[in-house]
Amino acid sequence: MTNTADKGDRLASAVSRIRGLLGEANCLVEPAAVEPYVVDFRRLYHGSTPLVALPSTTAEVSAVLAVCNELGVGVVPHGGNTSYCGGATPHAAGDEIVVGLRRLNRIRELDPANHSLVAEAGCVLADVQRAAESVERLFPLALGSEGSCQIGGNLSTNAGGLAAVKYGVARDLVLGLEVVLADGRVLDELKSLRKDNTGYDLRHLFLGAEGTLGIITAASLKLLPRPRTIETLFAAVADPEAALELLGRLRVASGDDVTTFELLPRSAVELVCEHVNPTADPLGGTHAWYVLCEVSSARDDPSLRAAIELELERALEAGLVIDAVFATSGPQREALWRLRESIPEAQRRAGASLKHDVSVPVASLPAFVARASAAALAVVPDARLVTYGHAGDGNLHFNLSVARDGDDALFLARGSDVEAAVLDIVREFRGSISAEHGIGQLKRAQLKSYKGPVALSVMHSIKQALDPNGIMNPGKVLADR
Ligand code: MLT
Ligand code: ZN
Repeated sequence: MTNTADKGDRLASAVSRIRGLLGEANCLVEPAAVEPYVVDFRRLYHGSTPLVALPSTTAEVSAVLAVCNELGVGVVPHGGNTSYCGGATPHAAGDEIVVGLRRLNRIRELDPANHSLVAEAGCVLADVQRAAESVERLFPLALGSEGSCQIGGNLSTNAGGLAAVKYGVARDLVLGLEVVLADGRVLDELKSLRKDNTGYDLRHLFLGAEGTLGIITAASLKLLPRPRTIETLFAAVADPEAALELLGRLRVASGDDVTTFELLPRSAVELVCEHVNPTADPLGGTHAWYVLCEVSSARDDPSLRAAIELELERALEAGLVIDAVFATSGPQREALWRLRESIPEAQRRAGASLKHDVSVPVASLPAFVARASAAALAVVPDARLVTYGHAGDGNLHFNLSVARDGDDALFLARGSDVEAAVLDIVREFRGSISAEHGIGQLKRAQLKSYKGPVALSVMHSIKQALDPNGIMNPGKVLADR
C-alpha cells in the first residue's frame, strides 16, 4: 500500500521526466492551456491534471507510457474531445496525466490501388476524408463532429455515425492498427491486408476500448471508390413503421445503395428552426416524422434518381410517405444535412436534456419508440421527446428536452428515473444501452448491470493482462477509481 505522499512524489517525478522527454514546448502545465483538456464536450465533467503531454511520434508515446507505467501514474488519452460520455476527461483528483494526440497527425501512406490509407491517431476525421478524396476514394466514416474529432478517438470509441447503414461502424473500416501498450511496448499490427487469418484478431481489442488497454497511434483504414452519383431526399412519413418500410423499399430500388437513413421527429425540426436556423424546415406543413435519406453509387448513374422517384411515388400512394423533396443542388444537399447535424446543438440551446444512445433490432424500432416514449413521459409528462437518429442501424438517440420555460434542475433530477424506465425497455428488446457513444465514465454503472457476469469477467481478465497496473484511462469503461 502506498501512501499519499509517495503517490504525489511519483506523479511529480513522472511530470518532470516527461517534460524532459518531450521538451517544455510540448508539455502544457499552465491552467489556461490545460483547461480545454479537462472539460468534456457536454460539460458534464470537470477534471484536473498537472500535465498535458503532446507527443508527436509513436516513439514519444511509448516513452511517456513507459514512464507512467513504471511510476504507476494514470494516463488519459485525448483526441478531439467530442466524447459524449466523458471518456477523455481526467479525474478531478488531478493525479492523471493527459496525453493529447493532436501532434501525431500525419497521413503516413495513401494507397489508392490497395484502397487503403494509413493515418496517425491525431488526424482530424475530415482531413482523412479529404486525403481519400484526393485520390478519388472515399473514407466513409461520417460524423457531425468530423471537423474536429480525431481518428484515434473515433477508433477507440468505435464511432458509428451517419453512414453506418451501408458502410458499418468504425471497427468495420480498419485493416490494421499500431498501438502503444500500457508498458510502452509498441504492438505493430499496422497491416493493410484484407485477409490475415493468424489467430486472435488483436485489433478488435483496442477498437472500442476507449484507451483503457493502450493508445492507438496509427491505423490502416479501408477506402472505397468515391461516389459519383449521390441523391439526397427528405421525406415526411406517417410514423417510424412507415420509415422502416420505406427503407426496405429504397434498399431494393437503389440496388442496396442507401448510405444514410436518419429518422427525425417534428420536435427536432422545430428545435432547429427555433434555435439554429428559422428556415431549416424543407417541407411545408407539420408532420410527425421525417427521414433524411441518401443513396450513393460509385457509378455515374443518371437512372438512380428515376428509380428512387418511382419508389417514392409508390410509397406516397401507399400512404407511407406524405411529402418529399430531393436536393437538386450542392447547397440544398448541405442544407438538409445541416438540419440533421444541428439537432444536438439545437437541443443544447433549448435547455437541459436527457440523452440515451440506444439500439434495438431494426424491426423492433417502432415498438420500442412507442413503449419508451410512454414510459419516459410517465416520469416527466411535460418534457419534449426528441427521438432521432440512425434508424437504418436501429440506433436512436432517445433524447428529451426540458419543457419550454421548464425548470432545468427539476427536470434533470428525474434523469435517473427516466433512464431506468428507458433502459428497462431496451433490455426487453435485447438492445444496447450504448449503441455508438461508448461507456466512458458516464455509463460505467449501467455497463455493470447490462453485461452478463461472464462477459464482464472476460473483460476484466483482458484489462488485467494488458494493463496490470491499471494506468490506462483509469475509471473509464470498467474500473471504478
Ligand atoms: C448524433 O447522431 O447527432 C450524435 O450521435 C449526437 C447525439 O446523440 O445527440
Ligand atoms: Zn448519433
